[in-house]
Amino acid sequence: MMSSFPVRRSRFTVTPSLVRHYVVGRSPLIAHLLTALSATFPAGERFFIDSVRNVRDQVTDDVLQQQISAFIGQEAMHSQAHAQFNEALNAADYGLEAFNQRLINSTNLLRTRSLRRQLGATVAYEHFTAMIAGYLLEHPKLWQGLDDNLQQLWLWHSVEEVEHKSVAFDVYQHVFSTKDEQGSLAQRRRSMRTASRAFILGWAKMTLTLLWQDRQQSFSSPQQIKLLIADAAEIALMMMRLLPEYLSFYKADFHPSQCSHQALLSEWKEKLGLV
Ligand SMILES: [Fe+2]
Ligand SMILES: [Fe+2]
Repeated sequence: MMSSFPVRRSRFTVTPSLVRHYVVGRSPLIAHLLTALSATFPAGERFFIDSVRNVRDQVTDDVLQQQISAFIGQEAMHSQAHAQFNEALNAADYGLEAFNQRLINSTNLLRTRSLRRQLGATVAYEHFTAMIAGYLLEHPKLWQGLDDNLQQLWLWHSVEEVEHKSVAFDVYQHVFSTKDEQGSLAQRRRSMRTASRAFILGWAKMTLTLLWQDRQQSFSSPQQIKLLIADAAEIALMMMRLLPEYLSFYKADFHPSQCSHQALLSEWKEKLGLV
């Protein structure tokens, strides 16, 4: 089990220059994809924190307890920074609040389910965030039009998602797998199937809604449409490349650390000035 990791404040600040299409040189699709993700973070990450906190008193391992504290601290910082980012974009009449409300409703429903099911959902979503974060760190071409300030939001968050990617999983195994190995494995797989449908459909729907809101700019010229198609192909490629990592989650002996990003983490912590 890895040792703990730090909780850092984001160096991102809301600036008047923040615009909807903040990934310069790309079609609006990449910014909309990121913004759709951002819309889910404040409520989503609060749920992740609570699902781990619910069972924290059953964790008897000191190192894992330290990691839980760091996990909660990191996710709380992410939630706060993305809430500021979303609010700044909303100021430009962006329809993010509706997404946020829908997510609050579905997390409230999930909160009425068993503690194992709640943590199973977190484990599944943490696999998605770790996969996407790792991909962003490994493929800078996708976001290279982000300015330094926005990199301090998106790449800081990516680094920390990779850093803490095993915590919810380890808590789940520690608390539930020791009591009922087969039952908890079946729940983990069920949670991933449910999360996959919700995440992929929800992300696509939010992105298309944002794109449609912006249709006059998004589809303003054949050149814009060409850029949009090229970016959609990049996203399809990302999904294909991530497929083996996604599928590995269903294996009985899966552990998030099996896909290591240690070299990437060190490289990006240095570039971003994160300690
Ligand atoms: Fe996060
Ligand atoms: Fe996370």
